[in-house]
Amino acid sequence: MDNKKYEAEINNSKSLVQLNELEIKYLGRNGEINKLLSAIKDIPNEEKREYGQKVNLLKTSIVRSIEMMKKKLSSKKSEVFFDKTMPGKAYPKGSLHIVSFAIEEITNVFEKIGFIRVSYPEVDWEYGAFESLNMPANHPARDDVETSFIDTPAHKTLGKMVLTPHTSNGQNREMKRVGKPPIRMINISKCYRPNWDATHTPMFHQFEGLCVDKDISIVNLKGTLDYFAEKYFGKGTKTRLRPHHFQFTEPSFEVDISCNVCGGKGTVRNAYMRSLQKCKVCKSGWLELGGTGMVHPNVLKEGGIDSKKYSGWAFGFGIERVIMMKYGLDDIRNYYSGDIRFLEQF
Ligand code: FA5
Repeated sequence: MDNKKYEAEINNSKSLVQLNELEIKYLGRNGEINKLLSAIKDIPNEEKREYGQKVNLLKTSIVRSIEMMKKKLSSKKSEVFFDKTMPGKAYPKGSLHIVSFAIEEITNVFEKIGFIRVSYPEVDWEYGAFESLNMPANHPARDDVETSFIDTPAHKTLGKMVLTPHTSNGQNREMKRVGKPPIRMINISKCYRPNWDATHTPMFHQFEGLCVDKDISIVNLKGTLDYFAEKYFGKGTKTRLRPHHFQFTEPSFEVDISCNVCGGKGTVRNAYMRSLQKCKVCKSGWLELGGTGMVHPNVLKEGGIDSKKYSGWAFGFGIERVIMMKYGLDDIRNYYSGDIRFLEQF
């Protein structure tokens, strides 16, 4: 009864058919195990017990080896029949949200001209959101910016805690972080205002540019805005400045970009009626981008910068709005509706 011989034969079998033949050979009615068992009659009585036990052990070991080999050969069998030419399964892939994608694009545009991307707190003190920006407590300009206050005890000097209504709260922090100009900051973060309509959401994103150095003028500001408009919206996009008022810039402007749908003309030719019609996207040839201006000397002073030696400009634009302008979208609320059919288009 040579254990090794049986095991080698079983383990060397190449197919289930061959294994089946071995199973019959060892375990079948006329198989080797039964032959060994029937030979028991010729064994002396005192050895019969030991002999029987050995044959049974051998049988158990053969059964186990055959089972293991069956499993092995069955899994090999499925490999043999694997059809490598079958088309694979396409698993659905995620992608960046349209706002995250725009943040990456805008960051790239400004990093190319030496701006440093920062992200300042979305929950700040009144000092950061207003006082440091030349808007002291009780100043009427603060009423223009609807603000959500947080119900916590006010800080002795920094005031109440707010959900920041704009990214301009980063200006003072960046001036203090850098210390001595030059400063080239692009601050991107979430802002909060209690509005909800086709062009306003209570949570939105702004990107804030700040440039402070010697001899910085409106010319540098206009050049940078034109550069951004062409890079982000496409070649030929122009910008224009309209006088405005912000407490933290002087002079202040609203920035418009030329509309890409009508090429800045304000009218489009109707293909059927062959007549000129008002452009539905802009109505005037221009779209409003956001606010800008030369940094107010009080803001520079509050940031620890000598306003006699240095000057600067700043701007703050809405990310959701620039996306709207770029793709001609008409309802900002879609971004946050969670409707995958809308988001998959980008
Ligand atoms: C400001 O927030 C100024 N801090 C911008 C600024 C920065 C001026 C630096 C001068 C110097 P304004 O309130 O206009 O400005 O907002 C700027 C842009 O934020 C708007 O043009 C719009 O694009 C976007 N925005 C404002 N409120 C919302 C809102 N509720 N939902 C979506 N976008 C908004």
